[in-house]
Amino acid sequence: MANFQDFVPKSRRIEMKFSEFVDKMHQTEEQGGSERVYLQQTLNDTVGQKIVVDFLGFNWNWINKQQAKRNWGPLTSNLLLIGMEGNVTPAHYDEQQNFFAQIKGHKRCILFPPDQFDCLYPYPVHHPCDRQSQVDFENPDYDKFPNFKNAVGYEAVVGPGDVLYIPMYWWHHIESLLNGGVTITVNFWYKGTPTPKRIEYPLKAHQKVAIMRNIEKMLGEALGDPHEVGPLLNMMIKGRYDHGLS
Ligand code: SIN
Ligand code: FE
Repeated sequence: MANFQDFVPKSRRIEMKFSEFVDKMHQTEEQGGSERVYLQQTLNDTVGQKIVVDFLGFNWNWINKQQAKRNWGPLTSNLLLIGMEGNVTPAHYDEQQNFFAQIKGHKRCILFPPDQFDCLYPYPVHHPCDRQSQVDFENPDYDKFPNFKNAVGYEAVVGPGDVLYIPMYWWHHIESLLNGGVTITVNFWYKGTPTPKRIEYPLKAHQKVAIMRNIEKMLGEALGDPHEVGPLLNMMIKGRYDHGLS
């Protein structure tokens, strides 16, 4: 991959008040072009009182039971997402457990288990799009990403009142359905189950992903320049494993 400095992101972040966002969303809808706006706000003590009251009305009894049953760590954050129809969040994975609560409108969610890592071609860990797939799902480049042909996902359409569990390290591609109006979601992110004292083998796919991430991070630190990590890893794999010396 070329230097990350040359990378041009497909979206940009703008800070604005909630009322400004609502106006901007209506204007963008009226223009009818390909531009989309997406509000992503962590629920903290800066959000308005009405949002807090709605949030407190969530079925906490149910969600707390789920957390206890699965032996998850604490709830770390909640993200409020308000978006226009046709919004797409490209495939990525998160490092926390997620209960994805749909409030308004419908979203199409495609999930892939962590053992499909080889089919989804994540960006390097030091890249601004870390944890995201390099594959453009609308127009996949099979010459560059041939294993994407072998990716097999689970598809779900969620609507108001549905809660989708997105397990830690599972890839998810999410789109707000076209002609479905505004969508509203609240994410509940939890720390995973604490790592067991004794590691059991064979390692699970998500544990391998965590190890690969740590190796990439350590190499970046050791080499002092993250752009050196990819070529070095390629050299190591070619040199040692192409000749059956594993
Ligand atoms: C989305 O709903 O657009 C993204 C949510 C997520 O990635 O957790
Ligand atoms: Fe996510």
